[in-house]
Amino acid sequence: TYKSGKGARGLRFTPVAPNTADAVSVPEGYGQNVVIRWGEPILRGAPAFDPDQQTAKAQAGQFGYNNDFLALIPLPGERGRQLLVANHEYTDEILMFKGYDAANPTREQAEIAWAAHGLSVVVVEEERKSGKLTAVPRHPLNRRVTATTEFRITGPAAGSDLLKTSADPTGTKVLGTLNNCAGGETPWGTTLHGEENFNQYFANSSRATDKRYGIGTGASERKWERFDKRFDVAQEPNEVHRFGYVVELDPYDPTSTPRKHTALGRFKHEGATIRLTADGRPVAYTGDDERFDYFYKFVGSKRMKTGHSRAVREHNLSLLDEGTLYVAKLTGDSPAAEIDGTGKLPSDGEFDGSGEWIPLATATADGAVSHVDGMTAEEVFVFTRLAGDKVGATKMDRPEDIQPSPHTGKVYVALTNNSNRGVGTNAKADEANPRNANKHGHILELTEGRNRPESKTFGWSLFLVAGDPADPATYFAGFPKDKVSPISCPDNVNFDSYGNLWISTDGNQLGSHDGLFGVATRGERRGELKQFLTMPNGAETCGPIVQDRRVVVSVQHPGEIDGATVEKPASAWPDGKGKIVRPSVVAVWRKDGSDVGV
Ligand code: FEO
Ligand code: CA
Ligand code: CA
Ligand code: CA
Repeated sequence: TYKSGKGARGLRFTPVAPNTADAVSVPEGYGQNVVIRWGEPILRGAPAFDPDQQTAKAQAGQFGYNNDFLALIPLPGERGRQLLVANHEYTDEILMFKGYDAANPTREQAEIAWAAHGLSVVVVEEERKSGKLTAVPRHPLNRRVTATTEFRITGPAAGSDLLKTSADPTGTKVLGTLNNCAGGETPWGTTLHGEENFNQYFANSSRATDKRYGIGTGASERKWERFDKRFDVAQEPNEVHRFGYVVELDPYDPTSTPRKHTALGRFKHEGATIRLTADGRPVAYTGDDERFDYFYKFVGSKRMKTGHSRAVREHNLSLLDEGTLYVAKLTGDSPAAEIDGTGKLPSDGEFDGSGEWIPLATATADGAVSHVDGMTAEEVFVFTRLAGDKVGATKMDRPEDIQPSPHTGKVYVALTNNSNRGVGTNAKADEANPRNANKHGHILELTEGRNRPESKTFGWSLFLVAGDPADPATYFAGFPKDKVSPISCPDNVNFDSYGNLWISTDGNQLGSHDGLFGVATRGERRGELKQFLTMPNGAETCGPIVQDRRVVVSVQHPGEIDGATVEKPASAWPDGKGKIVRPSVVAVWRKDGSDVGV
């Protein structure tokens, strides 16, 4: 491992070596604290966490389970405070309830799980002398959104027959959000949250459209259909059409109704991130996290307004309702014969090529138009995967988080892995996904035509081909491989203020726990990748935020190892032996009071 503390600005720390410690391991000279844990009360009146006496009512006022995406947004007028917004992707009942019987969950357990899903908004306060962050319970802006909070469905599919149910004949109101994975912040002061693996909550489907989304023919894993028939596709066929969207929340208004934006399409949205056009229109990038699925962008037609009045905020909350949804098609520039599936670079020395954004449908104030033969616009927005299939989009190795660089506009697409690439009759390696049985994943760097986010064409190259740097089938943007940390399964990505890309991993295949890495994207140190922290047993790193004073991460699903239960935990994190394992948010800062990595 690269031992030097020197490196690109913002990355000057001694890398953490790969390890399997049951701890959050950070570089020498850095400190850490748990900002908030699953079950900590955040709303007025919520009780202290008691895992043996948990109730749905208590959970609805407490921080949810399995925090994933995180945003820290300014809180003007309250010195040293910011608003933390967190996704709660899913529940792991066997690690939440003593003696959990997966075949026979109780109603109370199901309702606790509903309340542990969704989003949290919680004010956090920084310690003056360090980067430490602590939660401020009972703040009036604190909020929980759960699987039963009312949402408004907006955009071109709102009110469609495909979205009408017996509980909502208007097709515009839905209860809850599920499986919120990654997300993004908007330039107009809201947050976006991807509804990812929503299929797992629904039971008893027999339709081909549902099959394409992985919705099962039998009982669901959590058996929620026993307690609310909307999760039973046989009884309530359209409820499942109301999940799988990008959700928008106004964290500054705890009374606001969050929205589901149908114009960004319906699939297993990992997240959504925004870049503005020169004339102020939003362009949203969003990946569909499944092996051999696609990545997309939405180009809005309405311009953002500045200001804080109610009318301005209401206008900006409608920006993602009108515009065109595109899917990506990529073409390599090297002869196909030179892509042999091993990761060996082609003779031009790069995995690279050109790309096209294929339009799928356009939503306007007067209605929507399909660009896909044989599908109506409503069908494109609700069965978006089928539209991508029809137009021949490029099948990728699990498109996860996507992040445009605020410095250069280049867009980074994390592709976690795809062990099925080239296996059997599956699609074989191509220049954009150059390894068969891709265990370690890669990161694609996309440059829009003339660097305009609304362009219909783009160039691309692989920035990182992950794995052990000693493995010849890896690539670190050309940086010397004896000076980088090993990395496997890139998932969430974000930028620091120096333009370095930070990458969290999910499912490390190199024998180490998951971690967080920083990598320079520009200058002579481009490709210099260093590990900043590692996770406790069983945990995935999510939601990285890199502020000058601190790094904030989600420690998601600690202790999630086959066979583990509440009684037989696989981790003692964060509170030590004998205490229940709790997914939590962690802040990491420099003990000498300086900024991170300078
Ligand atoms: Fe929930 Fe694609 O990670
Ligand atoms: Ca993720
Ligand atoms: Ca090439
Ligand atoms: Ca993931």
